[in-house]
Amino acid sequence: MCGIVGGIAERNISEILIEGLKRLEYRGYDSAGLALIDHHHVVRERQVGKVANLVEAVTSRHLHGNLGIAHTRWATHGKPTQNNAHPHASGEVAVVHNGIIENYQELKQELQQLGYVFSSETDTEVVAHLVNHALKSTPDLLTAVQTIVPRLKGAYALGIIWAQQPDELIAVREGSPLVVGVGIGEHFISSDQLALLPVTNRFIYLEEGDIVRLKRNSIEIFVNTVLTHRPVKELDATVMSSSKGEYKHFMLKEIFEQPEAVQQTIAQALDAEHLKAGFLEKADGAFDTIQQIQIIACGTSYHAGMVAKYWFEQIIGLPCQVEIASEYRYRHPVIVANTLYLCISQSGETADSLAALRDVQRHAKQQHKTIFTMAICNVATSSMVRETDFHLLTLAGPEIGVASTKAFTTQLAALMLLVLKVGEIKNSIAADLKQSVIQALWHTPKVLNETLKNDAEILRLSELFVEKQHCLFLGRGTHFPIALEGALKLKEISYIHAEGYAAGELKHGPLALVDNDMPVVILAPKDEMLDKLKSNMEEVQARGGELFVFADEHSDIHAKDRQHVVHIPAVSEWLAPIIYSIPVQLLSYHVAVLRGTDVDQPRNLAKSVTVE
Ligand code: F6R
Repeated sequence: MCGIVGGIAERNISEILIEGLKRLEYRGYDSAGLALIDHHHVVRERQVGKVANLVEAVTSRHLHGNLGIAHTRWATHGKPTQNNAHPHASGEVAVVHNGIIENYQELKQELQQLGYVFSSETDTEVVAHLVNHALKSTPDLLTAVQTIVPRLKGAYALGIIWAQQPDELIAVREGSPLVVGVGIGEHFISSDQLALLPVTNRFIYLEEGDIVRLKRNSIEIFVNTVLTHRPVKELDATVMSSSKGEYKHFMLKEIFEQPEAVQQTIAQALDAEHLKAGFLEKADGAFDTIQQIQIIACGTSYHAGMVAKYWFEQIIGLPCQVEIASEYRYRHPVIVANTLYLCISQSGETADSLAALRDVQRHAKQQHKTIFTMAICNVATSSMVRETDFHLLTLAGPEIGVASTKAFTTQLAALMLLVLKVGEIKNSIAADLKQSVIQALWHTPKVLNETLKNDAEILRLSELFVEKQHCLFLGRGTHFPIALEGALKLKEISYIHAEGYAAGELKHGPLALVDNDMPVVILAPKDEMLDKLKSNMEEVQARGGELFVFADEHSDIHAKDRQHVVHIPAVSEWLAPIIYSIPVQLLSYHVAVLRGTDVDQPRNLAKSVTVE
């Protein structure tokens, strides 16, 4: 997704901006650019493709300046061309923008009538012209921006500079993430704090509606033209480590970090045999009153929610619904009092999930219904964490690979902790079941480590997928969502068409797809559905399908003709979805590497989807 970096310093800012853009590459983009103020003029460079192309152009032009803004663009309005790349300029004003200006057509017409000529197909260019136009009535960039912002409809973050005021940068946050990086005698902005880690670990997290004026020695934040104060927060070292180390890709590194990430996530909540006394204590009263749970999420996080539905209902008898945020937000759902609305998100900035959360909050207030909101999230400073009543952090550390791996398994661990907590407060979980789940949770990192030892075997199997066009993933019960997740992983990074199905649904349609050329991946933990699953495997084999089975070591499933089996260590059926995520991640990763795709930044995708 688009990325913004900007800053004002005594030193040359262009290298800092470029390093920032490189750090945003993981988010996905198709063009990049920067604008600097040099000798009272805007100088601009924009290139299609990788940041490396921009670096080459900036170096050959020897561009430098003390004030600048830069951007990686993920095309929404108009193709990825040089003209559509940011920054956009009007006169001596330059603008970078994340998000969408919904009323840009109407504004564009108005500006064209005033004589402004558009050189791009983007919605962003209207902002540059509007600011330039406003500067005809005021000599001050901040005032000009404050005048035009109320006219912009949509969700956006902006960075704006003007050659006539070469000592200040104006930034706006309205529905799209933006942080201020606090330095000494220099300050920065970015849509993602990771971009600024080489220059600072001190951040101000802007709130919706904030307009900021950065000068070298001051940071002023305005809400509706009134000066306000926002705290400066310091990041700790774990958030700051984001290198690939010995691994070829971030995705592989993150797959292998899962035992540690899950361990960290559970250790915040459990001591040897119990939930810690202070764990989610603030929510005790709310958990006591809730009658049901509504989970809202997107993509992989939605799959985590699907697993949790089984757990909430089977372990503590609490009704639970799960819905994709982009559907939920538009179907005018009935708000039910005494519901816990639970958003799950790695980034905490996903536009659809945030919009659904805000709608729920607004409607509940209008209808005078008591509800509670909660986030399970990997980013402590995210909008979602700040806007919910309670939160539980997944302690996965930064996830850089676009395909989510450790965020998913830590979400599952966090969800199980929540099941235990709500069950304990409601007194709806049997003591022995609670004990065995806690023991299984503590055991999970060890089993994850053992499961990762299957890597070489899975690599061998992945060679059989390289030429395939399609693939089916099958599971039952809590492994139906893992089948969906396996299919999502394979399609997003290897570009092989894949479908996940509940194995019992096979004969209601998808069995027609099965032939000699169709690999079928089966998730076969040892649970009460195993015998039923074995029958589903027979159905596939009888039609010539080739089976790739990840099976419990005691499942009595063995390799035979057109049936490849990787044995997975025995694990409690409750925690098995965490363990069976590993082989599907590894399979997708190796297939993608063998097919030569860009594993960490797959085509057309972005890490944090901050537009609708
Ligand atoms: C897939 C993937 C996406 C995200 C989805 C939601 O590997 O990463 O499907 O899960 O975009 O993102 P978050 O969890 O940040 O809300």
